Amino acid sequence: MKRRFIAPLVFAATIALGAAPTRSEEVTVPAFSDQARQGGMLFMGKCASCHGFYAQGSDKGPPLLHRYYHPGHHSDEAFLRAIRDGARQHHWSFGDMPAVEGITDEQVRFVIHYVREMQRANGVF
Ligand code: HEC
Repeated sequence: MKRRFIAPLVFAATIALGAAPTRSEEVTVPAFSDQARQGGMLFMGKCASCHGFYAQGSDKGPPLLHRYYHPGHHSDEAFLRAIRDGARQHHWSFGDMPAVEGITDEQVRFVIHYVREMQRANGVF
């Protein structure tokens, strides 16, 4: 059932994320694990409008490649919580992050793989 919706995203992500490491807008995009690749597609649909496609941030939300979001500061549990319950503005001045609808905890795990692999490739840890 989900496949129908994922297929066009697979196509888009293959093009956009690329199979090999690339650099774009000062962001290093690594060769992703399978989990991160799936997470990247979800990220594109659910997070990129605020956090930027490469998690580099936008005018609506902060970069998740910032040291604030280092795994030692924002654990995987903190990601799950922010997505489930939203997050009040505290580090930045973009306003609150609303809870994200229509994403399961299992899918969030994939998203976290994507963010962590991007963080590692960009020197956050
Ligand atoms: C409507 C915009 C918006 C969307 C969509 C959004 N975020 Fe956020 N997010 C924000 C803003 C704004 C903050 C910063 C809050 C602050 O610290 O001031 C934030 C903060 C966070 C934080 C840190 C929370 C904390 O405890 O400090 C995480 C992790 C995060 N976002 C992950 C995600 C992920 C993953 C997705 C997609 C599933 C997502 N966000 C979707 C706007 C958004």
